[in-house]
Amino acid sequence: MERALYDPIGGYYTAGRRSGAAGDFYTSVDAGPAFGHLLGRQFTRMWEALGRPPTFDLVEAGAGNGQLMRDVLDALAVESPAAYAAARVTLVERGAGARAEHATRLERHAGRPIVSTATVPASIDGILFANELLDALPVHRVVATERGLREVYVTVRQDRLMTMLGPPSSEALAAYLADVGVDPAVGTVADIGLAAVAWVREAARAIASGYLLLIDYGHDAQQLFGDAHRTGTLRAYYRHLVDPPPGARGVPAWLERPGEQDLTAHVDFTAVRRAAEVEGLTWLGSVPQGRWLLGLGIEELLERTSGTSVAAVRDRLRLRSLVLPEGPASTHHVLAMARGLGLGHALP
Ligand SMILES: C[S@@+](CC[C@H](N)C(=O)[O-])C[C@H]1O[C@@H](n2cnc3c(N)ncnc32)[C@H](O)[C@@H]1O
Repeated sequence: MERALYDPIGGYYTAGRRSGAAGDFYTSVDAGPAFGHLLGRQFTRMWEALGRPPTFDLVEAGAGNGQLMRDVLDALAVESPAAYAAARVTLVERGAGARAEHATRLERHAGRPIVSTATVPASIDGILFANELLDALPVHRVVATERGLREVYVTVRQDRLMTMLGPPSSEALAAYLADVGVDPAVGTVADIGLAAVAWVREAARAIASGYLLLIDYGHDAQQLFGDAHRTGTLRAYYRHLVDPPPGARGVPAWLERPGEQDLTAHVDFTAVRRAAEVEGLTWLGSVPQGRWLLGLGIEELLERTSGTSVAAVRDRLRLRSLVLPEGPASTHHVLAMARGLGLGHALP
């Protein structure tokens, strides 16, 4: 998964962003500027809770081509000029192709100090946020058997990628399950995000003061590794098909087309919370994305798209897709954590 997504030459994300109608999947950013607009309102609340500092860090990790940060800054400039003026903006993106787009995409904010980098800054006073980053980090796939955990490995036979079972590659896998309080039933396939935990710990350590806000799809550990997901959550997205049928080779869909399809696994919210708390952050809570957007005023943005022109109807439908119950409104959650006192009331 690491090489299929991030190989410096052929990795799926190395070349650039692949979401949107012409790509393989959608994120909330593809529904138009409303998502970033409302996120901007969230950041204004946080900046206010921080005591309206004259400068603060606004850092996005997994920033893709910079579209979400542009939507955020567009909205802040209009709705909250003081917060806009105070923000020191950093975009963190591992993919060189997407990073190369930042300057153009953020051209209209070029008067502001904006840093584009591949790694999270060492010290952040303000806000670090990420939308759909953790689900794109590699997982270990293990199977619970009567004789303990076995891990699924990818190997090459006769020039072809195949899977094979072997002993766990690391004691950290069993330790992870013990840590989140899960003993998977025999036969359960569990996709374990050691990289997501490592990322959250690094991100949490970087926050000297302020917030960590993570938006993603996932579940608490009991649910994620329970009956409803006994075949695991690793999925391939290719041209908007989820787990397209495997080819004649009979390998799982996630092993097909390496570098040409997106791979993703649901996020373990219990592990995220524990990782942040181990690094001294305070857990502020989690809220389904739909409820969060309603709390920030998505209805008011919907009213602004009234009208019967094709563009108005399209905008309205895209916006509504964010709050329909079966979409990202319920699958995605907003997780908030913080370091520092008096930061407890920032989520709507
Ligand atoms: C699913 S995309 C989401 C992009 C964007 N946030 C959005 O919502 O449309 C995940 C992005 O995270 C980037 N990424 C993955 N690991 C990263 C890391 N360790 N640091 C920074 N970016 C990373 C990928 O290259 C990719 O652009």
